[in-house]
Amino acid sequence: MMVHQLKYSFFFFRERCQTMDCQKCRGVRIWVVVGMFVLSTVVFLRFDQVLFSTVYTISAGAEFYNATHLLSTSEKTSSSNASVVSTAKAQTPDVKPTSMSTTLKFVNTSVKNGTNGPDKYVFYVCDGGNLCGGFGDRQKGIVAAYLISLMMERKFGVWLTKPCNLNTMLDSSTVKWNINPDTLKDRSSKRIIAIDGYSGRLREKLKTMDLNKEYKEDVLYFSLNLEFVRFIKENKLYKKQLGWMDQLSVSEVYKIVWERLFRLKPELQKQLEPFQQLKTKGLKLVGAQIRMGRNPSVPSDSEVRNNIANIQILWNFYKKFNDSSKYRIFITTDSENVRQKAKQLFPGVFMDIAGKIVHVERSRGSDVCEGFKKVILDQVVLSLCDVLVVSKSGFGRIGAFFRQNENSLYCLKPDKLVRCTTQSPLFAEPSW
Ligand SMILES: *[C@@H]1O[C@H](CO)[C@@H](O)[C@H](O)[C@H]1NC(C)=O
Ligand SMILES: *[C@@H]1O[C@H](CO)[C@@H](O)[C@H](O)[C@H]1NC(C)=O
Ligand SMILES: *[C@@H]1O[C@H](CO)[C@@H](O)[C@H](O)[C@H]1NC(C)=O
Ligand SMILES: *[C@@H]1O[C@H](CO)[C@@H](O)[C@H](O)[C@H]1NC(C)=O
Ligand SMILES: *[C@@H]1O[C@H](CO)[C@@H](O)[C@H](O)[C@H]1NC(C)=O
Repeated sequence: MMVHQLKYSFFFFRERCQTMDCQKCRGVRIWVVVGMFVLSTVVFLRFDQVLFSTVYTISAGAEFYNATHLLSTSEKTSSSNASVVSTAKAQTPDVKPTSMSTTLKFVNTSVKNGTNGPDKYVFYVCDGGNLCGGFGDRQKGIVAAYLISLMMERKFGVWLTKPCNLNTMLDSSTVKWNINPDTLKDRSSKRIIAIDGYSGRLREKLKTMDLNKEYKEDVLYFSLNLEFVRFIKENKLYKKQLGWMDQLSVSEVYKIVWERLFRLKPELQKQLEPFQQLKTKGLKLVGAQIRMGRNPSVPSDSEVRNNIANIQILWNFYKKFNDSSKYRIFITTDSENVRQKAKQLFPGVFMDIAGKIVHVERSRGSDVCEGFKKVILDQVVLSLCDVLVVSKSGFGRIGAFFRQNENSLYCLKPDKLVRCTTQSPLFAEPSW
């Protein structure tokens, strides 16, 4: 309609031009165009400012990270430096998310079956024989062991039975990982337990290691808990097996590997429905993962990572989304106090997954398996969040990896909430 009118008016000018001074007429047309351009620019900038102020108002020491180029395909592992973003376009929940590289869906990670003789195996194992860490640690170990299985062209298994068997919660997706090691008892085997510092040393070695020289046994059981992808990517001996990773970021590798391995059991999937329905109702989900560390809900945790006073920063942030016609607020935390406080402060928009808070390694008792299910589901909900806040926790970071985009991600630091991406130095300390 507008366009039509516009054409009409130009036409009108042109008609009149034949009887008027044509120079003047052309001048008018130019001014109309310039005027429209200026007007639209002003409207655009103002609009951005409005969006900006509604989303993010924490002042002291705020930093903004440019997320727009992060999903391009090259040089992603070299850390992206901070740059001040003057517009908030990529950070508002109202803007369409940048979709991940479409190649993701077509990544072919399969390698030719080159081994002669009986099948050999690489396992991720967590069966009570040694400590494995929380769910985030275990996820890192599973992804690392899976990549090792690809490098060695072996079958891959996951044997995670503490506090309860993973196969009661997750099904196989493409990779049939659910193999009971008892069926392989007569085969030569080796157990590689490398937790914390030992994981650190092993991943350094994996930059150049020839795995077939190092490990000759038929069945290898790995217990690992640090982030290995960055290190494995550097190994030049496995171009054929790992070539598919070259153009992918660490976060994309996690997402692809996880989706190749796991699918939620139908009864868990069902619990997600209320969250999946938000989109069809036009509601945005604003989520946070708040790891407090040692606290009354998980008294056996190793360290205190946050305190209740710092959480005030989060409440201030959430206030911007306290509108039940537009938003829902989700929180996953290891502290029942934080959870209850969120519910009390934001009764109209609060949503969560029912169940008791547990730490899958540190908590004890009969309901720890139910708690484990909640842990898994909470992370899937994090991946559905339009706006996401993560704290110092592998579990939260991997939840951020599982999102489809880098938009509206914030890192909670002890004294501030900072815009970040999964590739900014703020996102995780190098030792994670
Ligand atoms: C990133 O920042 C570091 C330190 O400020 C600097 O040495 C480096 O050259 C920067 N890299 C890029 C790509 O700008
Ligand atoms: C973000 O980074 C990209 C690539 O470095 C650049 O082209 C773009 O202008 C930046 N955007 C903002 C808003 O700074
Ligand atoms: C994936 O790669 C394998 C081995 O290179 C090949 O046999 C298979 O056909 C490929 N699959 C697809 C879907 O391209
Ligand atoms: C390798 O080939 C053998 C024989 O064809 C088959 O039994 C086995 O399942 C294959 N292994 C993998 C990892 O596909
Ligand atoms: C959020 O909104 C509800 C309902 O409008 C109100 O009762 C509550 O006090 C608000 N919370 C905060 C922290 O402002």
